[in-house]
Amino acid sequence: MMKPLEGKTALVTGSARGIGRAIAEKLGSLGANLIISDVLGELAEQTAGELAEKGYPVLGIPCNITKSEDIGRMMKAIIDKFGSLDILVNNAGITRDALLIRQTPDSWDMVMEVNLKGAFLVTQAASRIMMKARSGKIINISSVVGLIGNAGQANYAASKAGLIGLTKSVAKELSGRGVTVNAVAPGYIATPMTEQLPEAARKAFLDVIPLKRPGTAADVAGAVAFLASPEADYITGQVLQVDGGMVM
Ligand code: NAI
Repeated sequence: MMKPLEGKTALVTGSARGIGRAIAEKLGSLGANLIISDVLGELAEQTAGELAEKGYPVLGIPCNITKSEDIGRMMKAIIDKFGSLDILVNNAGITRDALLIRQTPDSWDMVMEVNLKGAFLVTQAASRIMMKARSGKIINISSVVGLIGNAGQANYAASKAGLIGLTKSVAKELSGRGVTVNAVAPGYIATPMTEQLPEAARKAFLDVIPLKRPGTAADVAGAVAFLASPEADYITGQVLQVDGGMVM
C-alpha cells in the first residue's frame, strides 16, 4: 500500500538530534524523502547515515539557518537530489535563559536570530519553490511559552510568539498558492535538557499538566505528521498545542 507522504520531500531544520530528528523519522516512516539539516554538520551527516541504514531516502546537509548562503546551497542540493520541496518544518531553536534584568542584548539577539529570523529566511527560500509548485506544507515549531510567557525566558518566549505571528501572516499570503502554514506549540517535553531539571521543577510542571506526564518527541512528531499530511489540507494559520492540556 502506498504511504501517505510517498513522493514528498521534507526538510526539517535542526534535525540532527532531539525533537527534529524524531519529526524527520516520523515523516520518513510515512514515505517522505528526508533532508536532515543542522548547524551541527557532522552530526547531521551521521544522523542522515543512520536513517539511510533504516531504508529512508535521505540527504544530510550542514546548514546554519541564520546564513542565507547556507540556505541557498541547501535548497539547490535538495532540488538537485529530489526535484522538489513539499514539506518544511522549522524546528531549529535555541534557549539563552536568564531573568530579564540579567539578560544581555547579545543573548536576546542570538535567540531572535536563530528562532525567528532563521525561520523567516528558510520559509522565504522554501516558499519560492512551493509557490511555483502551487502546493506545500510549512510547520513552525513554536512553544506554549510563546502563548503564556515564562519567567526567565523573555527572549525565547518573544521569539516563539513571533513565530506564531509569522505563521499566521505567511498562511494568509500563501493561501492562494495551495500552501498551508501552521504552528505546533509543544509544552513540557521530556528531552535530555528537561531531564536535567531539579526534581522540584519537574514536579511543578507535572502538577499543571492534566494528562499527568511529560510529552515525548514522538508526541510532537505525530502532530507535525498530521499537519504535513493530506488529512490537514483544509487547516492553515493554526497553532496546535501538544502539551497534555497544560494550557487551555
Ligand atoms: P535540541 O537542542 O536538542 O535541538 C535543536 C537543534 O537545532 C539542534 O540539533 C541544534 O544544533 C539545531 N540548531 C541550533 N541552532 C541552529 C542554527 N543556527 N541552524 C541550524 N540548526 C540549529 O532541542 P529540542 O528540545 O529538540 O528542540 C527542538 C525545537 O522544539 C526547538 O525549536 C525548541 O524551541 C522546541 N521546543 C522544545 C521543547 C522541549 O521541551 N524540549 C518545548 C517546546 C518547544
